Parts: sequence; structure tokens; C-alpha cells
Amino acid sequence: MPLIIIECIRNRQITGTLNRGFEQEESMKVTLVGNGRMGQQVAEVISRSNDHEIAAVLDVDARITPEIFQGSDVIIDFTVRQAFMENLPAMLASGVPVVVGTTGWDDAVDEVRRMVSDARVSLMYAANFSLGVNIFLRILKEAARLIAPFEQFDIALEEQHHTGKADFPSGTALRAAELVLAGNKRKRTIVRQLSDDRKLAAEELQVAALRLGSVFGKHSAFIDSDVDEILVAHTAKSRAGFAGGAVQAAEWLIGMHRHKPGFYTMDDFLNERLS
Ligand SMILES: NC(=O)c1ccc[n+]([C@@H]2O[C@H](COP(=O)([O-])OP(=O)(O)OC[C@H]3O[C@@H](n4cnc5c(N)ncnc54)[C@H](O)[C@@H]3O)[C@@H](O)[C@H]2O)c1
Repeated sequence: MPLIIIECIRNRQITGTLNRGFEQEESMKVTLVGNGRMGQQVAEVISRSNDHEIAAVLDVDARITPEIFQGSDVIIDFTVRQAFMENLPAMLASGVPVVVGTTGWDDAVDEVRRMVSDARVSLMYAANFSLGVNIFLRILKEAARLIAPFEQFDIALEEQHHTGKADFPSGTALRAAELVLAGNKRKRTIVRQLSDDRKLAAEELQVAALRLGSVFGKHSAFIDSDVDEILVAHTAKSRAGFAGGAVQAAEWLIGMHRHKPGFYTMDDFLNERLS
């Protein structure tokens, strides 16, 4: 079957995971691209909402064309890098705003920004849609700034995820590393893997990745001195935080798209909420 259409799901009885702290203007019809762990979790959040419905769920066998998205208010993509990059032109050509949770394409972000700008559509990307993780990243940014003047503090990052995760380190860990580099000039480069035959240089920031069982996602920053250790960490208890965040982002993006189409991140979203 080339296309899996899940009947429009409306359930007006269950609510609760959506819109905490968000203004929801109206209902939205969502096309999901990717029916894996995250796609299914997003479908569950939508099915429990009072207001939203699923227009279609497209997975690997679907022929992705601009026309397939007509009638949708928003697209939510949780696939893999290759699929996202291949499907992006059709998604943008549809004119429907796109929320992207797929990770592993950070090296192509400038190209994607250009494509989004040329298409005059809106796209929101977050390596992690969990509100908790985004608060963790802000705390980490401040921690990196606070230790910067004090040479006794060293810092390293670690992430843990389930063994099914395709990319490493996680997009969130790389974002965390960028923030540390920006806030602390004593760290200049990111080291993803240590080789056997050399020590870590003082200006290198290690970002370790552990793949383990069914871990939903843990990110930790270890700040170490001779006399103490500071730990800044976030642990996801399930995928619900990512999925709920992606749905909230979709609601927000539809509104932004009307006023100012463009490329957005969770930072834009948080900045607006905090202003
Ligand atoms: N941003 C976030 O908050 C967040 C949270 C968790 C995971 N992720 C990322 O989301 C992505 C998906 O994670 P997952 O755990 O659901 O993975 P998964 O492997 O369970 O699901 C991926 C799905 O994409 C489908 N797919 C592959 N090629 C496709 C194509 N060409 N067209 C349509 N569908 C296609 C697969 O068949 C599969 O169903 C990963 O990149 C992961 O790192 C992001």
C-alpha cells in the first residue's frame, strides 16, 4: 500500500497533553511524515486532543508529492535524514508549513534555510521539541558563561539514547556543545570520539554518546574542578514531551506562517513566550 491514510481522528473526550502555556487559535489538520516511534507518539497526542485531527500518515512507501499535502494545515516530519532531505522539496512546494523533528542534517542547515526562504514557506526545526530540554539548554548556556572566567572548571557533555537511534552524538548534544563553545572561549572544538593514542586537549570539548537499551534521551553537562562537580542534566521520561512539543510548535508555526513566513527554531518560540 503506497499511502497509509489513517482516518481523521477526533476524540473530544481526552485532553491534557496539549497547549500547556500555549495559546491555541484553532484546530489543525496534520499530515505526519514518518510512522515510527515519534510519528506514532505524535499521532497519539493528536488523537487525544480536543481540537486537532490527522489528515494522513505517510511512511516509507508513500510517494511524496506537493499535492499529497493539500488540505493539511501543517506537516510534521519525524523520519531519517535522507528521507527528510529527499522529501523537503515536495513539502516546501506544497506551501504547507513544516515542523521537522528529524535530526542528523545539521550540516545542511544553511541549504535548508535557503530552500525555505526561496519557497516563502515556514519551517520549524528542533533537534528536541521537549520544553524541558530547551530549558536545560538555556541553563547550560548560562552555566558555560558563569564558568568561563574561572580556569579551574572543566566541562564535558554526555548523551544517552536507545539503541535504535541512527545518529550520534544527538542533535541536542551538538546544540548543547555549540552553546558551551559560544559561552566559554577556553573550549574551541568538539570531540565526538577519543582515539586510543592521545589525550584530550584543554581546548577540546568532549561530547560522549552512549547507546543503551530503550533510553528515551538523557543529556548531561559535567562541570568539574578539583574541589567540586556541578551537574546540569535533563532526562526524558517518555517520548510524550517531544511529541507534545512538536504539536505545540505546529500550532505556533501556523500562526507565524500567516504573519512572517520563515525558518524558525525552538529558540524563536521560547523567546516569544518569555517576552
Ligand atoms: N526533535 C525531537 O524532539 C526528536 C525526538 C525524538 C527523536 N527525534 C528524531 O526523529 C527522527 C525519527 O525518530 P524515530 O525514533 O521516530 O525513528 P523511527 O526509526 O522509529 O521512525 C522513522 C520512520 O521514518 C520512516 N521513513 C523512512 N524513510 C521514509 C521516507 N522516505 N518517507 C517517509 N517515511 C520514511 C521509517 O519507515 C520509520 O517509520 C530521528 O531523526 C530522531 O533522531 C527527534
